[in-house]
Amino acid sequence: MSEKMNAAVSYPEDFVATATEAIASRILAKQASGGVFRLSLCGGSTPAPVYRALATWSGIDWERVMLTFGDERTVGPEDPQSNYRMVKENLLDASGIPSTNVLRILGELKPDDAATRCETHLRKLAKIAGESVFVHDLILLGMGDDGHTASLFPGTKALLETERWVVANEVPQLNTQRITFTYPLIAAAKEVLFLVNGAAKHDRAKEVLAGDPAFPASAIRAGRVEWLIGG
Ligand code: 6PG
Repeated sequence: MSEKMNAAVSYPEDFVATATEAIASRILAKQASGGVFRLSLCGGSTPAPVYRALATWSGIDWERVMLTFGDERTVGPEDPQSNYRMVKENLLDASGIPSTNVLRILGELKPDDAATRCETHLRKLAKIAGESVFVHDLILLGMGDDGHTASLFPGTKALLETERWVVANEVPQLNTQRITFTYPLIAAAKEVLFLVNGAAKHDRAKEVLAGDPAFPASAIRAGRVEWLIGG
């Protein structure tokens, strides 16, 4: 067993409302002090209703939010599998956030090129900000039944990455490649918020929180880690 995750864990009655409020309150707090909120989004199905509610949250200045993606499938932005497409349908269009504030992972490119372009952009921004590693204010993460998070799947090469921030990752169990943030980039975030919804995931979440190294999510570290577990 590796180290137990040091995380705040709660089981909200209303998962979507609690998750939306948790994200919105952080955005508003940073904007109240004049800053730009750097938010990384997770894919899959869980966050869609949260993004829909966030899009119309009163008081958020979307001109001062920067969005990145913790992972992306190796497909174009119109593909039903695309995380960007899910985010566009649930958050981008409704919020009116300027497209220049959205760092899309170009899933239609060769995976290595897509990863390199995303990392290069982040490195440019980090340099301007005087950061050794790009610092997100908040990274949203999901968790799969196999304990993967972002596209850090059990037994895959990206789990071993200690230098790169964004990599293409061969996922044999899905017979595909994914593009994913790495542990170093995630660890640089001020906060990580896991959004895990569904009773079927509760036992796995407990194993991850206990630090079981079989599950990639258990190795996630950041300034602060919080879990919202619904269902
Ligand atoms: C993805 C996600 C992935 C997701 C989990 C949970 O691209 O699929 O980033 O890590 O968060 O697989 O997905 P669900 O929310 O659909 O259960």
